[in-house]
Amino acid sequence: MKNKITAIVNQKGGVGKTTTALNLSYALSEEGKKVLLIDFDPQASLTVALGHNGENICNIQTLMAGEIEESKVEGEYVIKIKDNLDLIPGTLDLAGIEISLVNVMSREMILKQVIKKIENDYDYIIIDCSPSLGMLTINALAACNSIIIPVTPEYLSAKGLGLLISSINKIKKRINTNIEIDGILITMMNERTNLSKEMIKALNESVEFVKSKFNLNMKIFESKIPVSVKTGEAILNRKSIIEYEPKNKVSEAYQYFAWEWSEN
Ligand SMILES: Nc1ncnc2c1ncn2[C@@H]1O[C@H](COP(=O)(O)OP(=O)(O)O)[C@@H](O)[C@H]1O
Ligand SMILES: [Mg+2]
Repeated sequence: MKNKITAIVNQKGGVGKTTTALNLSYALSEEGKKVLLIDFDPQASLTVALGHNGENICNIQTLMAGEIEESKVEGEYVIKIKDNLDLIPGTLDLAGIEISLVNVMSREMILKQVIKKIENDYDYIIIDCSPSLGMLTINALAACNSIIIPVTPEYLSAKGLGLLISSINKIKKRINTNIEIDGILITMMNERTNLSKEMIKALNESVEFVKSKFNLNMKIFESKIPVSVKTGEAILNRKSIIEYEPKNKVSEAYQYFAWEWSEN
């Protein structure tokens, strides 16, 4: 099996990237897949959600700096979260890497080189990206072979999606021809309101627009993630919602999504 390196991207914050990275990984690990999570956002919310603090230990910033300086990184940098689930923590210092990358040769490829050394240990590597299209996200796009785009119905705009897809397309052409956009995952959906139905319609239209503009195949996943206050509550308890409340509708939706995504 070819290992899957997946970037969870959207330049918009608060659309469910971190929640999706966490729960998708958790669900896959429960199915016996070996999963590595990489917290690639300087806000380090994934690391915090898993009850860790990336400041005192080796983290993704240390690994990238080691790669840039071609020095060997000492010590453990992978944290074992549970059976089959590891984390490379994020840190505020990651913001500094963006600046130091300016003068580095092949600066888009640093994360890819870091991952290359460990990718054979995992079935899935899931990268939680920061809400920007800067050099960090470019590194994630250069390193991955698969992309999931979470969007909330509220924040969907043809313009925002167009900007993201056009960036992905440039990287696919110039740096990484292996990229596949697996699909768009609708998150935080409130099923009861008509408004959301209108929004889903608008979303479908945006996707059609983007598909024809960029001549590329892209789907909206059948799984939709509903809204539940328990999602935030689980994070406060340093758990994925699947662990915190397995029968919650969000837990079930993420489990179904993990199946839909990995089996298709
Ligand atoms: N399905 C959901 N229902 C309710 N709240 C959610 C859901 N998914 C995410 N949230 C909350 O929305 C906020 C933003 O989600 P997050 O995953 O951090 O987005 P991003 O990583 O894109 O910034 C967080 O407070 C999170 O707990
Ligand atoms: Mg996040």
